[in-house]
Amino acid sequence: MALKTLSPSQSDIEQEAARLSDKGLGGLGYRDEELERAAALTWRINRLKMEKKAVIPAHVYQRPEILLGVADMIGDSYRLAKLGAASDAEIIVFCGVRFMAETAKILSPDKTVLLPAPEAGCSLSESITAADVRALKKKHPGAPVAVYINTSVAVKAECDVVVTSANAPKIMRRLYETHDKVIFAPDAMMGANLAKELGKTIGKDLIVWNGTCIVHDNFDAASVEFYRKMYPGVKILAHFECTPALTSVVDYIGGTGDMMKWVDDHKAPSYMLITECGLGDLARTKFPDKAFVPMCRLCPHMKAVTLERVLSALEKPSAAQTIEVPPSVAARALKPIERMFELAEDRAAA
Ligand code: 13P
Ligand code: SF4
Repeated sequence: MALKTLSPSQSDIEQEAARLSDKGLGGLGYRDEELERAAALTWRINRLKMEKKAVIPAHVYQRPEILLGVADMIGDSYRLAKLGAASDAEIIVFCGVRFMAETAKILSPDKTVLLPAPEAGCSLSESITAADVRALKKKHPGAPVAVYINTSVAVKAECDVVVTSANAPKIMRRLYETHDKVIFAPDAMMGANLAKELGKTIGKDLIVWNGTCIVHDNFDAASVEFYRKMYPGVKILAHFECTPALTSVVDYIGGTGDMMKWVDDHKAPSYMLITECGLGDLARTKFPDKAFVPMCRLCPHMKAVTLERVLSALEKPSAAQTIEVPPSVAARALKPIERMFELAEDRAAA
C-alpha cells in the first residue's frame, strides 16, 4: 500500500527531530537545526523503507544519523553478513562499503542490493587481485588461503575460507589443526597480530600479503603512553587492523563487535577506542554512563554514505548504486563465505 505523502509537515519534522535527539543524537552534540535537517530525511527514508519492503543494515563506522535514524541492523562485518542474509526484505540498502554490499548480494542473490555511495571502496580490498591470490597459491602449494572479508568477490572466489575480525583467530587456529602453513591476505597488520596471537612465524608458517587499512595503519603507538599518564586508569582498545607496535601496548585487541562487548563487560574510569570514529560515537550513545577519551580517525569510504544518498538509492537507484555480481563468480565466492559461518560456529571439521 502506497503511503499517503512523502513530504513531512513542519510538525512531522519537529517530532522526528525529537525522536532522533532521544535516540542519542542530542547527546552527541547535534544542535536543533542539525536535528531538523536530518529529520526531514530520516522521516522520508523510514516511510519509503516500509513502502518498498527494504531493510537498512549499517556498519558501526557509519554516520550517527544513519545508525540511529534509519538503520534496522547495526554491527560489525560478521554480524551484518549473517543478519542481512536472514532478512526477508526485498531490498537491502547497505550502509557500508562495497565489499559488504557485495557479500550481501552473494548471500541473497534474489534481493536487490543497493550501495548508496557506489564509490565507497576500501584500501584493503583494493590492495589485492584474484591474480595475486593465484600467484600466492602457486608459490605455496597446499597451503589453505584465508582472506579477510574486506576483499573483492573475485578474490573471495579464489580462497578457501573468508574471515572477519570477529573470527579470524578462531578460524586460523582451525586451519593450523590440519596444515603447517596458511596464507592470510590482504591485511599485513592483522596478519602480524594473528602471527603473534597464534605463535606463528611470518614467511614460514604464516604467509601474509602487504595490504593495510588507511585508517588503522596510521595510529601512533607512542601516544598511548602519553594518554595513559593523562587519563589514569584508562583502558585502551585497538582494532585488529592496527600496527603490531600499537597493539602490543594496548589492553585489548579485537574487531569492532568485540571491542564494544569488552567495554560492556569491564568497569574502568575511561576507555579509548582506537579505530574509526563511528565506533566511539556509537559507544557514547550505548554506554552513556561510561567515559570515552577521543582518539579516532574517519574512514572516507564509510563516511561517503549520507542520508541524502540513502534517500536517493531508495527513491530511484542509479545503475551504479545497484550491486550486481556475475553468478559464476558469486557461486565460487559463496563457498568460502559459508565455510566461514561453519568454522566460526563450530559446525564443521577444519
Ligand atoms: P569489523 O567491524 O568487522 O571489525 O571491521 C572493521 C572494518 O574495517 C570494516 O571496514
Ligand atoms: Fe577499509 Fe579501513 Fe575503511 Fe574499514 S576502515 S572500510 S578497512 S579503509
